[in-house]
Amino acid sequence: MVEHSDLAYRQLTRKYGADIAYTQMFNANIFSNGCEHMFQTCADDRPLIVQFAGHDPSSLLSAALIVQDKCDAVDINLGCPQNIAKRGRYGAFLMEELDLLYTIVSTLVQGLKIPVTCKTRIYKNFDQCIELCETLVRAGASLLTIHGRTRDEKGHLVGAADWDMIKRIKHHFQGRVPVIANGGIEVYNDIERCLMHTGCDGVMSSESILENPSLFSGSDSITMIDLTLEYLEYAERYKAPWSSVRGHCMKMLHRYFTVHTELRNQIGETKTIDDIIGLIMELKSIIVCDSDYQETWYQRHRGAAPVHDRRLMNGSNGKLVLHIKDKLLDSNNEDDNEGCLMGMFD
Ligand SMILES: Cc1cc2nc3c(=O)[nH]c(=O)nc-3n(C[C@H](O)[C@H](O)[C@H](O)COP(=O)(O)O)c2cc1C
Repeated sequence: MVEHSDLAYRQLTRKYGADIAYTQMFNANIFSNGCEHMFQTCADDRPLIVQFAGHDPSSLLSAALIVQDKCDAVDINLGCPQNIAKRGRYGAFLMEELDLLYTIVSTLVQGLKIPVTCKTRIYKNFDQCIELCETLVRAGASLLTIHGRTRDEKGHLVGAADWDMIKRIKHHFQGRVPVIANGGIEVYNDIERCLMHTGCDGVMSSESILENPSLFSGSDSITMIDLTLEYLEYAERYKAPWSSVRGHCMKMLHRYFTVHTELRNQIGETKTIDDIIGLIMELKSIIVCDSDYQETWYQRHRGAAPVHDRRLMNGSNGKLVLHIKDKLLDSNNEDDNEGCLMGMFD
């Protein structure tokens, strides 16, 4: 996610069970014109999918060629609903441009030695969803990630993700390409619920994993404070950009800041990782019972959530079957990839 899928954070989510991580969306035009330093990686940052946005097939190909030896696939973003995407003619504003999408995907498929994947939003109308997804698959996309919301469902208009529509799309492409469900994965139980409901090959968590990088571990024994401290170690090790560091801390500590607002204001004034650690120590000294802090960042514009501790596991052994890695990374490997969840995308 933009400003959030930095290397340090990707590595932290991998430690806690994410099987595949995506980079943030890079504007292909900017990226291929001397801004490839925006992409930071290392040897064990794998499997990795690098996401690009754009409408010009040759810029997209140039950008993808720069990264293709350092990642496992490139993804085309067809989901960004922001005005900047409208102005730049990319993201969800390409969803109707089927001929162009066909050219983009097929140009990349022909020009790259790694798979090309696509992440898109839905329409309310099933046939329209299929027309779009069929175009992508016919052009050679190896995997589809379906965000179960329309282009207009953003910000305060964000509703529940439409898992029924994702299920119908998955069913349509059964046996052809893997489909990943995105949207509405808030807590660990949602992973299994979503896989059962949609029949998808994996789930992608976005906002929730920003707040809780251990989402895919199914464990709630580590507090957000300790996870934040751990992230700061990773941020130091991987030299994370400062804007990302502060952004992550704000989200991971959101639940505490809704109560201790004076500390939230102070984080805006921090300038170093040590400053943030000092602030966290102060927070730690105030907190009596961590479970008192239930107001999550994920729920910030989703209305009042029923307060029940959905972070607890539901007695499942967490065994889930995912075929994604086999298909993407080793098409000769027939083994199921048991216990794997897909995470930290975009
Ligand atoms: C701050 C932020 C940045 C995002 N950046 C990206 C991005 O770069 N690429 C992308 O495909 N989606 C991006 N998204 C959208 C999410 O990937 C995801 O589709 C959406 O949040 C729905 O999933 P969720 O309900 O699990 O959060 C972003 C979302 C947020 C909140």
